[in-house]
Amino acid sequence: MRKMLIDIPWETFRALPLAEKVPYLNQAGCVPYHTLIAQQFDRALLERLGTLANSIRTIAKTRSGTDFLRQLISHKRAMLYFSQPSSRTFLSFYSACQILGMQTGEVRDTSTSSEFKGESCEDSVRTFSSYFDLIIMRSPEKGLAEHMSWVLSNSDRPIPVINAGSGQDQHPTQALLDIYTLQRSFERSGGLRDRTVVMVGDLARGRTVRSLSQLLVNFPNIRQVFVAPPVFQVGQDIQEMLRARGVDFEITSDFHGVLPRADAVYMTRIQDEWDDETHPSRQVDISAYKFGARELKLLRPQAIIMHPLPRRDEIAVEVDHDPRAMYWRQMRNGMWIRAALIALTFGCENRVLDFHRANL
Ligand code: NCD
Repeated sequence: MRKMLIDIPWETFRALPLAEKVPYLNQAGCVPYHTLIAQQFDRALLERLGTLANSIRTIAKTRSGTDFLRQLISHKRAMLYFSQPSSRTFLSFYSACQILGMQTGEVRDTSTSSEFKGESCEDSVRTFSSYFDLIIMRSPEKGLAEHMSWVLSNSDRPIPVINAGSGQDQHPTQALLDIYTLQRSFERSGGLRDRTVVMVGDLARGRTVRSLSQLLVNFPNIRQVFVAPPVFQVGQDIQEMLRARGVDFEITSDFHGVLPRADAVYMTRIQDEWDDETHPSRQVDISAYKFGARELKLLRPQAIIMHPLPRRDEIAVEVDHDPRAMYWRQMRNGMWIRAALIALTFGCENRVLDFHRANL
């Protein structure tokens, strides 16, 4: 893996439009070095990752396959630095590292690290880079993973950073697993094209929808429908991006009106950790943005229901047993696509595909 250097001043790098950051983040062949933003992934790369994830999950079915995968990057160590709560993203990255034989270290509570003694996050991250070969980080702060990538790129020991969720801004690897789930769900019925994807809930502060919307733009004729009361509607920046890319999209609060047209419904929870009881959004009635037995009746037989999880009551538990409920499989897909991303980042793609071919 060639080391990537972001060899421009931080303020200059920070101010670049997102698309112009991409060449600083990808290795040769458009493979990510740092994975920070959904803009780094085009359709070819998304298809490539899906193929690699499929190979890894097939290989992992046998003991000899598992042994093969475990030696791929057993000489590398990953640090999971999660200063914001996480279950699935943390565990799926942790499992992905184990599948590829990577040793892991973790900080989940900054009160147990030297940050508590007043050390800056920059210094902490530089410390991790002395002991590890990859940093996977989640933070409530928008842009922190980007800043850390820049700090590391300009340190004695540059190592890749993967953004596992940055504030209300981006969650690129969640969007990768969402796309992978859509690809697999529609693989026998023409693939991920000519579909209507309906996103519901807190689209203003939910970072998963923001990254997913960006990745969906890569696929032909995907209509994006954003369903929320005005206070939770998707940001102007996403709407402008969709307009600039000529994508067909719709902003509405009429959930039942769009449900019969949906090929995929992506439910999300209200992200109220970002406000308090006095916030005007707390007065908004969100009962019309929940998925239960009535909504199941309005949904096409071939459509799927997704959720990044955790859920509250926006999907009723009785929906779980419907064959269209995809969220548990979606969650497991996260482990495979994250393993694929790490394997790709560390240059193991061909070895995996060759092994798969030789052992079909
Ligand atoms: C999401 C997140 O953290 O943004 N969860 C996840 O990573 N699967 C969604 C959420 O917290 O609602």
